[in-house]
Amino acid sequence: MIKLGVIGLGKFGTNILNTYKQLEREGLCKLIAICDINEKILEQQIKKFNVKGYTNYKEMIEKEELDGIAIATPDPFHREPTLYAANKKIHVFVEKPLDVTVEGCIEMIEACKKNDVLLQVDFHKRFDPFHQIIKKDIEEGKIGKIEYGSVHMEDKIVVPRDWFPNWAGKSSPVWFLGVHFFDLMRWFLKSNGRSVFAKGIKNKLKSIGIDTYDAVIAIVEFENGVVLSFELSWILPENFESIVNQGFKLVGEKGIIECDSQDRGTRVCYDGIGVMTYNPVFINEVKKMGEIFYSGYGIESIADFVYNIKHLKDGYKIENLRNEITAFGEDGLEVTKIALAIHKSIETNKEEKV
Ligand SMILES: NC(=O)c1ccc[n+]([C@@H]2O[C@H](COP(=O)([O-])OP(=O)(O)OC[C@H]3O[C@@H](n4cnc5c(N)ncnc54)[C@H](O)[C@@H]3O)[C@@H](O)[C@H]2O)c1
Repeated sequence: MIKLGVIGLGKFGTNILNTYKQLEREGLCKLIAICDINEKILEQQIKKFNVKGYTNYKEMIEKEELDGIAIATPDPFHREPTLYAANKKIHVFVEKPLDVTVEGCIEMIEACKKNDVLLQVDFHKRFDPFHQIIKKDIEEGKIGKIEYGSVHMEDKIVVPRDWFPNWAGKSSPVWFLGVHFFDLMRWFLKSNGRSVFAKGIKNKLKSIGIDTYDAVIAIVEFENGVVLSFELSWILPENFESIVNQGFKLVGEKGIIECDSQDRGTRVCYDGIGVMTYNPVFINEVKKMGEIFYSGYGIESIADFVYNIKHLKDGYKIENLRNEITAFGEDGLEVTKIALAIHKSIETNKEEKV
């Protein structure tokens, strides 16, 4: 039985809790304890998930015997709990981004390596089946050598304004959204970022007291010569058809790939609501035998960590898990390097090395 804990029980932490509870019903693991510094949120989640709770992660780690911990605190607060857990020989699953500094990422990777524990990052776009088909096509050489392309990921303004106004100012569309696609493109291209040039726009969010970029436009050159542009923003209007608009285009010497990762083919329009699209491929809920069952790439990525711990308990080594779908700490580091270079380029107004 794999014993799990979760630190940070807000919006995304709830998806982790739902996933662990579902895997618990299937007999794979047990959710042992949860932690949030916000007592109100902690109490709500204790009631909902019928589990022991703590306001201090160190106390939770000391008192409970855990195999794995998931960390879904705001971006700058992934590092400390990771180091603490790793030094207690607990496997760690970190929400993206791994950390917002290169030093932090390296410290986390080294602590996990030293203690022989897994450091996994939630880059769930690898688990989207449409993306997996595209990856296969690329590997089979159907598109030929990829030359250029474009990526967009844009949230509705409700995300920075209403979902986490207290820490949106410390984040950006690059940290919150871009990292997903930097990882996906690295995964497709099997290449890391080499240099970037970027422009940032500050206007709408700043006018309502959230001092961060509305949008960032970045050109990223990868080590294999592929050049991609990224349009990242979080100011789409409230009545946009989905919470996130996302997709990409890749052009190679033998073909073109276009992927709409948002509109998966179902569009509805209702009085008083307007037009909406659905993306159940991300997270879908189905009620069976009085319980809600969750599926989708958002869930699979979280569950992958638990299956990986099972493999390790069954005698596999961490190196055996480097199977191309799991995103490791090293992937998190490469993504953070791209994100930092983009922010630096906006400030210097120059091309920057990744
Ligand atoms: N994978 C994805 O698609 C996805 C989507 C959204 C957010 N995220 C990431 O998940 C993380 C959390 O985002 P969110 O939207 O759930 O934020 P949130 O603000 O809803 O939740 C964060 C929670 O962490 C708690 N917290 C903060 N510091 C803590 C500490 N030291 N110990 C314990 N709890 C602490 C807060 O009280 C809060 O309840 C972020 O890193 C974010 O980038 C990932």
